[in-house]
Amino acid sequence: MQKIQFTGLEKQREILRSEIEANMAKVIDHGQFIMGPEVAAFEKALSDFCGATYSIAVANGTDALQIAMMAAGIGAGDGVLVPSFTYTATAEVILILGARPIFVEVDPATFNIDIAALPGAIANARRAGLKPKAIIGVDLFGLPADWEAINTLAEREGLFVLADAAQSFGGIAAAGQKVGTLAHVTTTSFFPAKPLGCYGDGGAIFTQDPSMAEKMRSIRVHGQGKEKYETVRIGMNSRLDSIQAAVLLAKIKLFRGETESRNRIADIYNAALSGSVKTPTKPQGVVSAWAQYTILHPKRDALQAALKERGIPTAIYYPKPMHLQTAYQAYGSGLGSLPLSERLSKEVLSLPMNPYATDDEIQYICDAVKACA
Ligand SMILES: Cc1ncc(COP(=O)(O)O)c(C=O)c1O
Repeated sequence: MQKIQFTGLEKQREILRSEIEANMAKVIDHGQFIMGPEVAAFEKALSDFCGATYSIAVANGTDALQIAMMAAGIGAGDGVLVPSFTYTATAEVILILGARPIFVEVDPATFNIDIAALPGAIANARRAGLKPKAIIGVDLFGLPADWEAINTLAEREGLFVLADAAQSFGGIAAAGQKVGTLAHVTTTSFFPAKPLGCYGDGGAIFTQDPSMAEKMRSIRVHGQGKEKYETVRIGMNSRLDSIQAAVLLAKIKLFRGETESRNRIADIYNAALSGSVKTPTKPQGVVSAWAQYTILHPKRDALQAALKERGIPTAIYYPKPMHLQTAYQAYGSGLGSLPLSERLSKEVLSLPMNPYATDDEIQYICDAVKACA
C-alpha cells in the first residue's frame, strides 16, 4: 500500500529548508521582528506576482477580510451578500462588524456564488429592511469566480465588491487578469495548507485603489495616521511577522511552478475520474489555484473510508453550510432554504492535491477512487 501525502508540504520543506533557515536567521540577526525589511520585500514580490498596484501584508486571511470591510465603511445595519457554502471566516467578519450576512446559493457547476441568485437575494434583503452594501465572493477551492459578472451587477446595485481569494491566490481569470486584480479589493490567506502558505498565520490584501490602500495600511496598525502615535480611525493590530515574510519570500519563488503542477494533476484526475465521480468544472480559459481538488459522491463517507484504508488521505470542505451553522442560523432561512449548499456539504470530498506527487501516486489515487466509487 502506498502512503500518499495530501499537500506536499513535506517535500517542499526539503527543497527550501536551507533557504528558509537562512532567511529566518537574517531576521533573528537584524531583530526587526515587526515590519522588518522582509515585509516590504514580500509585498513587492506579491505585486510583481499578481499585478496588484497595492499589496498589504497582514496577520491572517480573516483579518484581511475585516480590514477591507472596515475600510469600505461596512457596519451596523448593512447587509452583505455571501455564499453559504464557504469557510466560516467569510461570514464571521460580517457579524463582527455588526453587519448582517445575506446567505446566497452557489452555482451548481463552479460552487462559487450563484450570480443568477443575487438579484433576488438583494430584493429580499431590501424588503426585509436591510441595506445591502457589499458582496463578498469566494473563489472556492481555488477557482476564480465570474468577477466580471459580479462587478457589473454590483455597480448596478451600488455595492462594494470584496473577493475572498484565501484559496485562489495564483489563479487567473479567462481574460488573463490574475487573482488580486479582479475585484475592488481582494484578500488572501497564507495559512500553512493554502497554495501559498507560511509557517504560521499570514494574509494579504490587494487593491488598485490608492485611497482604499491608504486606509487599509492605517487600519492594519491601529488606525495610525501620518505620525506614529497619531490615531485617525479605529483600527486593528494585524501585521505580518517578519519571520513569516522571510518564509514566504523563499516559497513564492516556487509558487508558479507548483501552480502549474497542480493544474497538470487536476487534468490527470479529470481525465481519469470523470466517468466514475462528479469531477470539478473549470470554465474555459480560467486557471484555478487548485487549493483543493474536490469531487462529489452520494456515498461520500463510505468512499472516504475506503480510500483511507488504501493510504489515501482526503478531507471534507465543508461539512455544514453557513446558513445552518449554530452561530449564524438566526441570519439564514433554515434547512431546505439553500438546497445545493446543503447537498454539497454531504457529498464533497477533496482528494490529495500535492504538486510534488509522482505520476505513479496520482495513478494509484485514480485507480482507488474508480475501484471504490
Ligand atoms: C475561504 C476562506 N476565507 C477566509 C479564510 C481565513 O483565512 P485565515 O485562516 O488565514 O484567517 C480561509 C482560510 O482558512 C478560507 O478558506
